[in-house]
Amino acid sequence: MSRRLGVLIAILALASLVLLASAVLACPIDARIGVRGLPNAVAFNAVPLGIVFWILLTAAGSSLPVRMPDGTLLDVGFAPVVAAMSLGGPIVAGLVALVGATQVREVRRQVPWYGVLANHAGITGPAIISAYALGLVPARSNLIVDFVATTLAASLFFSLSMLQAALILSTRNGEPVRKLLRVGAGGNINMLALAPVAWLMVQMYLIAPGSGLLFAVPLYTTRLAYQRFVEVREMFTETVRSLAEAVDKRDTFTSGHSRRVQEISVDIGKAMKLSDTDLEALEWGGLLHDIGKIGVPDSVLLKQERLTRDERMTMNAHPVLGAEIIAPVKRLAPVLPIIRHHHEWFNGSGYPDRLVGDEIPRLARVLHVADAFEAMTAARPYRMTPLTPEQALAELRKFGGIQFDPDIVDAFVRTRWGRELSDPGRAEIREVPLIGQAAGTLSAMAAAAGSDAPRAQDATRPSPATA
Ligand SMILES: [Fe+2]
Repeated sequence: MSRRLGVLIAILALASLVLLASAVLACPIDARIGVRGLPNAVAFNAVPLGIVFWILLTAAGSSLPVRMPDGTLLDVGFAPVVAAMSLGGPIVAGLVALVGATQVREVRRQVPWYGVLANHAGITGPAIISAYALGLVPARSNLIVDFVATTLAASLFFSLSMLQAALILSTRNGEPVRKLLRVGAGGNINMLALAPVAWLMVQMYLIAPGSGLLFAVPLYTTRLAYQRFVEVREMFTETVRSLAEAVDKRDTFTSGHSRRVQEISVDIGKAMKLSDTDLEALEWGGLLHDIGKIGVPDSVLLKQERLTRDERMTMNAHPVLGAEIIAPVKRLAPVLPIIRHHHEWFNGSGYPDRLVGDEIPRLARVLHVADAFEAMTAARPYRMTPLTPEQALAELRKFGGIQFDPDIVDAFVRTRWGRELSDPGRAEIREVPLIGQAAGTLSAMAAAAGSDAPRAQDATRPSPATA
C-alpha cells in the first residue's frame, strides 16, 4: 500500500468515525426502528433488536458480493442500509452500514486490513450523511413525500459511495477519478432500482417487522441475476479466447499472437484516450482479428516458401472471411470493421478494400500497428531471429505514412511497449493520397496484366515492415 493510499483511507475512516460520534451525540434514534405499539411485533419492541434485524439483513446482502467485469464489487446490502436510514436515522444508518458491510472474505481474512477499513469507511460515512439529508425532509408521514425523499437519499448514498470508491481506486491505480466515476456509475447504476425496494421494505416492516425478511428473496434473486450475467460474460470471453488460441495454435510460431496483439492494441487505445467502448472493441478485435484464418488451408497457412499468387489471394481473404464469421454475433458488431480492415495500409495499398488514410476505421489502424509490432518481435519460419523491439519500432517509424498511421505510431511510443525504446521519430511527411492512388493504380494495372506485382502482405509474412 502506498503512503498516499494509506493517508486517504485513514482520512475516510476518521471522517466516518467523527460522523458516527456526532450522530450518537446529537441525534436520537428514530423510534420507528423498534416498531413500538404493534401487537404482532412483540419481539421488535426494543430498538436494539430492530437494529440487529437490519444489520443481519444487510450482512446477508453484503456477504457474497459479485465481481463485475470492470473489477468493482457489487452487493445488494445497499437496500437494507437505505431502509435502516429511513427507519432509524443517522446513528442506525451508521451502525447498520458499519457492521452489516462485513463480507465473508473479510471474515476469512482474505482482505488486507486497509481493504477492510476502506470498505467499511466507504459505506458508513455516506450512509450517515444520507440519513442526515433524509431527516431534513419534513412531512415524511406522507407516503409520496417519503417515497421521493427515500429515493433521493438512496441516490445520495450511492453517489457518495461511488465517489469514495473512485478516489481510492484512483489513488491506487493512477486512473482519473472522472473516468472511474463514469465506469463505476455505468456499471452499478442499476443498483438504484433497489431504492423503491428499500422503501417497500420500510413500509412492510412498519406493518409487520418479520415481513422484512420476505425481501431477502428478491434481493437474493437480484444478486443471482448479477452473478449469472458475470458468469455468462466470462463464459463468452473464455470461448472467444479459446477460439482465437485455437487459430493461433495451428501454427506453432503464432501461438499466443492474438492475446499479445490484444494487449498492445488496448494499450495504444489507452494512450490515445479512447472511450471504454472503443477499448472493449479493441479487446475483442485483438483476439479475433485473424479468426478468418480458420478458412485458410494448412498447405497455405503453414507454407514456409514464398506463396504463389493464388495462395496469396487465399491468405488475403482472411479479413473478409473473419468478418463474415463474426457478423451473426450482434454483440460483436463494433468489432467487424477492425477485423475486415486490419490489413489496410495507410497509403491505400492494403486489402481488402484499398482504403486510404482516414477512410480506414481508426481502431483497425490501431490494430494494424499492434499486429505488425507483435509479428516483427516474434520468431517466424521465414525469420527465425525476431527483430528487437528497437528495430521493430524503427520499422514502424520508417513505414509511418505508408503502411501505418503515423499518429497511431506516436501513440504506440507512449505505451509501455515503446516508452523505453530509442525512438528515431517520424519519417518525412508523405503525400498519402497521391501515393495511395498511385499504389492502387499500379496494383490494379498489375492485376489486370496478371503479374505477381508487389501487393500488401499479411502481417505474419514478410512485408516492408517485417522483412
Ligand atoms: Fe491478419
